[in-house]
Amino acid sequence: MMTAVAVLMGLTAQARERQCFDKDWRFLLGDSAIMAEADFDDSSWRQLDVPHDWAIEGDFYVGNPSGAGGGALPGGIGWYRKTFTLGDCETPMKDTKFFIEFDGVYMNSTVYVNGEKVGIRPYGYSSFEYDITPYVREGKNVVAVRVDNSDQPNSRWYSGCGIYRHVWLTKTAKTHIKHWGVFVQTQADGRVTVETDIENPTKAKINVTHTLYDPDGKVVARGAGQSSKFKVQSSKLKLWSCETPYIYTVRTEVILGGRVVDTYETTTGFRSFKFDAATGFWLNGKNFKLNGVCEHHDFGCLGAALNEDALHRKLLKLKEMGVNSIRSSHNPPAPELLNMCDTMGLIVMDESFDMWRRKKTQNDYARFFDEWHERDLTDLVVRDRNHPCILMWSIGNEVLEQWSGNDTDELTLEQANLILNASRDASTLAKDGEMSPNSLLTRHLADLIKQNDPSGRPILAGCNEPSPNNHLFKSGAIDIIGFNYHHQWVKDVPQNFPGKPFIFSESVSALQTRGYYKMPSDEVTWAPQEWWLPYTDPSYMCSSYDNMHASWSSTHEETWDVVKHNPFVGGQYIWTGWDYIGEPTPYGFPARSSYFGIIDLAGFPKDSYYMYQSEWTQKPVLHLFPHWNWVAGDEIDMWCYYNNADEVELFINGKSQGVRRKTGENPEGRYDAHNTKAKLNSEYHVGWRVIFDPGEVKVVARKDGKEVGSQTIKTAGAPEKIRLSIDYKGKNTTFITAEVVDKDGNLCPWAEDQIVFIGEGTGRIIGTDNGCQTSMENFKSPQRKAFFGKCMVVVTGKGSITAKSPTLQPDVIQF
Ligand code: GAL
Repeated sequence: MMTAVAVLMGLTAQARERQCFDKDWRFLLGDSAIMAEADFDDSSWRQLDVPHDWAIEGDFYVGNPSGAGGGALPGGIGWYRKTFTLGDCETPMKDTKFFIEFDGVYMNSTVYVNGEKVGIRPYGYSSFEYDITPYVREGKNVVAVRVDNSDQPNSRWYSGCGIYRHVWLTKTAKTHIKHWGVFVQTQADGRVTVETDIENPTKAKINVTHTLYDPDGKVVARGAGQSSKFKVQSSKLKLWSCETPYIYTVRTEVILGGRVVDTYETTTGFRSFKFDAATGFWLNGKNFKLNGVCEHHDFGCLGAALNEDALHRKLLKLKEMGVNSIRSSHNPPAPELLNMCDTMGLIVMDESFDMWRRKKTQNDYARFFDEWHERDLTDLVVRDRNHPCILMWSIGNEVLEQWSGNDTDELTLEQANLILNASRDASTLAKDGEMSPNSLLTRHLADLIKQNDPSGRPILAGCNEPSPNNHLFKSGAIDIIGFNYHHQWVKDVPQNFPGKPFIFSESVSALQTRGYYKMPSDEVTWAPQEWWLPYTDPSYMCSSYDNMHASWSSTHEETWDVVKHNPFVGGQYIWTGWDYIGEPTPYGFPARSSYFGIIDLAGFPKDSYYMYQSEWTQKPVLHLFPHWNWVAGDEIDMWCYYNNADEVELFINGKSQGVRRKTGENPEGRYDAHNTKAKLNSEYHVGWRVIFDPGEVKVVARKDGKEVGSQTIKTAGAPEKIRLSIDYKGKNTTFITAEVVDKDGNLCPWAEDQIVFIGEGTGRIIGTDNGCQTSMENFKSPQRKAFFGKCMVVVTGKGSITAKSPTLQPDVIQF
């Protein structure tokens, strides 16, 4: 008994401790070399916790060097400092190793410990760790981090600034598992391989054991050795899938001299998948489409600072829409995104870069690529390869190395965003039989991935050059042909790329402002008409009927039609699930956030959300739009998305406007490639052209002649009151919707009232938004104008929020 206790004490003293290092940093926007010094007095600096993004606190300004494309928010240089104490009597410092780990710092970070430079990391999306053992001492220590995001523009979208992901401090014994040092590979028949990378300066013999726990926490298999193979009985095996994302855990223990000196937990899952040239995507023997979306990393008014609740809300709303896959466009995601995708059953395309050697903006990662790409790509793969959710690696998005020429050097950020999909001169493509430097570079990147992940996950790149003479395709190193856009070329894929699986690595880029409708709805606007032409419209809005997109892209229905009706197309990644800050195509400043999202920046779904939900889920959908507040006599197009019904009928003030059925799979209802005409009726929606008459509009859905659903929209009267409701409640963060309604509670769809939020209790307002792409209100302001009747306040902690506006009755809600 005595011995057991002693062993346990030894274990506690020696085993790994990984501590969240987010709390109590000091921050200053400014720069001086002395800020690195150990005894520098930072007591006057602002105290804050990371993750933190200083840019989101700034004002939108046309002169900010990030440009509208970067969100028109500030950049600059900032410093973070944290004082901490080390050393305890149980474990002498000399027997301990200390590591500091940053999940992401945007960008160009330099880390100092006690005044000594520990390392630099240019790429703002990479996770990295430093061994700080040589720099720390017993007692007080100081870590200082210089973050330099002053050379702008360096991104085609809003990047954020600062230590915007978590920081960790890890303590281990001298003999320990190295950073990301456990690699678990699984097979769908239950076979497991574990490779362990261990630092053992003692040279003494170590034993390594692995225990596999099932999703219920029961031990289902054990293995031993640094390199170990074992198997779970197939009767006990639960496969990971989108519907049942079963997660297993491997607990690895390192034993030295009879004592456990390190323990390390790795989550894993079992599944089989393939991409087939004829039949598309398969998971565990089931053939289905990858219904994916591309996502940037920001959280709207909360900026780039990682917030698990905001991330969960983002993924949840997508999952409810029917999304089953995420592309981490165009960079390594936060580790928490991958953890959530593991547990929520979302497949991930893990992407590395938006550019290689050729820059897209003046100061982007291209300037670091030669020196850093091997390190950044290797770290991405080694960090992420255990995640069951990851089924593909992307080596880049629309890299200019697809062609021989270089044509963006002199462009502004806004122009760069537009030119990417301009068609290239054929002379810039690879010649027959040529293995150009660009093709060799493609191979080199693919080889790096394969060396670090021999599990066979396919490699692709988001390519906006659809020709087989694209230098990337020519390399032979691309496993899946991934087109960005170019749905007109898809019919040629089987001839052009025989035997290769195909997906849309990026698609659609439709343009929509929630609540705004451009009629007639069956006319499609290309904005801009061609990438080099300006698009101006004094409204600075885009239409929420599915009738507006960029010149290189398509309506939602157009691309979905191609995906749905071509079995060889494995799926698509729509640009984008959520709106994001920056890239406000087709407009310039004061537009400062995107129009591409299916969900707006505040988190309100646009109408197309329900088109996908009706196609991608079994949930009953009946979504009639737009609202019913127009000028009497106006000609209005009413659209309806529905499923699980044979027909729908529209009534205006009780009078039938006709029965409509979706056109089904007949060519009449199909979209021609790049049509300028939408349809009032299609395979995906029905529509009526009606004359507005105040009162109510109602749609009734029937199946086998029986009513299965209905929806009524009433003409709202004058704005009378505010209505608050909880949109999403997370562990620490709550999102509250404010709507302007009339005396009967009908949403006032044109309301623009200024709403002031007042918090009480321990909670605090951390952001406000309304989804309007041109709003110049600061994201941290406690007030926000309603936009098409709605806005959002984000709070943390507990308390109540009162919403007030001069001419409206207030409302109050607890959170
Ligand atoms: C693509 C690009 C995306 C985004 C999109 C907008 O060319 O990959 O990052 O810019 O266009 O349509």
